[in-house]
Amino acid sequence: MKIDLSTHVAGVKLESYLMNASGPKCTTWEELHTIAQSHSSAVVTKSCTIAPREGNPEPRYQDLPLGSIQSMGLPNLGYKAYLEMIPALKALGKPVIVSVSGFSVEDNIEMVTAFQQSDVDLIEVNFSCPNIPGKAQVAYDFEQTDKALAAITALGNKPIGIKLAPYFDMSHFVAAANVIKKYPVKFITCINSIGNTLIIDPYTEQPIIKPKGGFGGLCGDYIKPVGLANVRAFRELLDDNVQIIGVGGIKTGIDAFEYLLAGADAVQIATCFEKEGETCFERIETELAEFMKSKNYQCIADAKGKLKPL
Ligand code: DOR
Repeated sequence: MKIDLSTHVAGVKLESYLMNASGPKCTTWEELHTIAQSHSSAVVTKSCTIAPREGNPEPRYQDLPLGSIQSMGLPNLGYKAYLEMIPALKALGKPVIVSVSGFSVEDNIEMVTAFQQSDVDLIEVNFSCPNIPGKAQVAYDFEQTDKALAAITALGNKPIGIKLAPYFDMSHFVAAANVIKKYPVKFITCINSIGNTLIIDPYTEQPIIKPKGGFGGLCGDYIKPVGLANVRAFRELLDDNVQIIGVGGIKTGIDAFEYLLAGADAVQIATCFEKEGETCFERIETELAEFMKSKNYQCIADAKGKLKPL
């Protein structure tokens, strides 16, 4: 029996439940080409800004035993470069998801308008980058989120989704869901890294990354319980016509299965892809199929959102 891992996000068919996350190794044409050749079911680009950016000073990424900490600062080629790459990326045969991360509503309007006129499949607007000095994460400000969504969801017919920050309080899940429900948001991606954490090296008596005095986004295994809770909370609060892409600490098929039980329609892989490279997609896909088979699930819908009460 072959397990069917295909799924849909905002009307776009994905051959499998696993894709790369906007973040690691998805900035240059070569990196995006590698993703297209892998078992990632879509090609997701690095969050882009109006102008190209070098990003924050180095060292800005460090591996940790159970994940990583980073403050990359949105290094990217500028949105026009990604706009130009879309035809060639699409020609590689997979859905293309562009991530945009403007520093203002105006920036996001300019970029979303441009991508609405392109051949991209989905637009993921990043409301949750924690690493730009002096810039708050929009997702933690519900009034700003409301204003931004009012502006960017009215620019065309291509499905818009938003990348959310992790929330830690039930009232924040409700507040975010209530704003999302006001607009035609077709999918949400949760979670971004847990922002502004600090890892200290006790021997050097220094932080381990340079930007923002060492404050950076925590990624990987550490954040999986937070990602699962965010997916679960939003699955219970939003209508079924809003798909949820889960991200945070997925490095095995069983991790991916846990997100499926929580209600994810698809998942994205960041830290594991960073550490292991593009072979992670096929490995996790095989592990997920094997685990589902052992439990007699045949397709994604069989287990999606089916977390059992204790
Ligand atoms: O943790 C993150 N790092 N989240 C983002 O949205 C952007 C990225 C970066 O470039 O700093």
